[in-house]
Amino acid sequence: MELKNAKQLKGTVSIPGDKSISHRAIMFGSISNGITEITNFLQGADCFSTISCFQKMGIEIENTADRVIVYGKGLHGLSTPTDVLDVGNSGTTTRLISGILAGQSFSATLNGDASIQTRPMKRIITPLSQMGADIRSLKGNDCAPLEFHPAKLKGITYNSPVASAQVKSCILLAGLYADGTTTVTEPVLSRNHTELMLRAFGADISSKASTASIQPNPVLEGLKIEVPGDISSAAYFIAAGLLVPNSEILIKNVGINPTRDGILKVALAMGGNITKENERIVSGESVCDLLVCSSSLKGTTVEGELIPALIDEIPMIAVMAAFAEGTTIIRDAAELKVKESNRIETVADNLKRMGADVETTEDGMIIRGGKVLHPCEFDSYLDHRIAMSFAVGALALDKESSMKDAECVNISYPKFYEELYKLAK
Ligand code: S3P
Repeated sequence: MELKNAKQLKGTVSIPGDKSISHRAIMFGSISNGITEITNFLQGADCFSTISCFQKMGIEIENTADRVIVYGKGLHGLSTPTDVLDVGNSGTTTRLISGILAGQSFSATLNGDASIQTRPMKRIITPLSQMGADIRSLKGNDCAPLEFHPAKLKGITYNSPVASAQVKSCILLAGLYADGTTTVTEPVLSRNHTELMLRAFGADISSKASTASIQPNPVLEGLKIEVPGDISSAAYFIAAGLLVPNSEILIKNVGINPTRDGILKVALAMGGNITKENERIVSGESVCDLLVCSSSLKGTTVEGELIPALIDEIPMIAVMAAFAEGTTIIRDAAELKVKESNRIETVADNLKRMGADVETTEDGMIIRGGKVLHPCEFDSYLDHRIAMSFAVGALALDKESSMKDAECVNISYPKFYEELYKLAK
């Protein structure tokens, strides 16, 4: 696909629903009593995978243009799947649903695409097995396909070696079906949407610093949920507004939960001109509009506790760094290697294609900005966030570029190119 360049970006964009929150709304609605009505649901392929998995377990889910309605059947209301549960490309579906499947009185098998079948599942197999779950990696490689059989679960106290909301959420969901308290401590607090939303559904869940605890067997009741716009999708528009000269973009409805807003901190540290407007709370989550104006960016260091709050935005930050003056160091981000692609490699490869100076490290990369960058052919490696990050980079080049497998944006933002190019002057 051809990627446009632009002299200026002007206008307003409304950000589609948060992917993490959309998945959780379907899952928690399915195991609650009665109706859950979801607005601004992310209509993307990953979330459709979650819907189809729960439909296969007997949950009626209606997806109309403006809302999704889940007819929940309660904590013990799921039924034996009619088929293998297909999680597609979605790591969130795989790891969160595993926590639920571990506690069921029926057997189930889940599998996904080629990328999912290489992503590490030992991180959930270990704690779930400690809880007593019968979970097996069918190929014996600690990856999907995964098979589950009925087992009695016990509550555990688990010190997670990774700051991963998917791991934390998996264990907390299994904890709903355990015989006592389940506690998870992470090295650094990861996104806390599960804690916030499960509590709203009626779960007895407490959290303090990077530890969350849940009590088993609550009565969960259906809810109305308005999903805030996804800051991970907004990140592409933030970067585009900063990088393309003479630009001014109003980005409406952006979730700014403090466990997710690392991109704003980094953009400000790089010298970005960003103003928060109209701050408000929507379904228990902080939301605002962002006004972004073109800025001269400088290099920065991205590390430590900030990493989980911007893990999905690192490809975009790396592109911003290539256009910035000075050096940007990204470290403590080895998790990048086990995302939809190995994002240390796929980011570095695409940066080099446009002439950037990048050195990869074990847990990140070093980007020396200020090089002359040129149009080129990018490769998404079928990773939606790589495609979107480099489409934004291409906007700031002096001629058109191209992207191999650009359509993979369907995973999280089907209308991405349309919305981005609408702003181009
Ligand atoms: C997510 C957690 C993060 C993130 C992913 C969505 C979630 O993954 O990268 O896109 O919804 O819980 P990890 O938990 O593996 O860090």
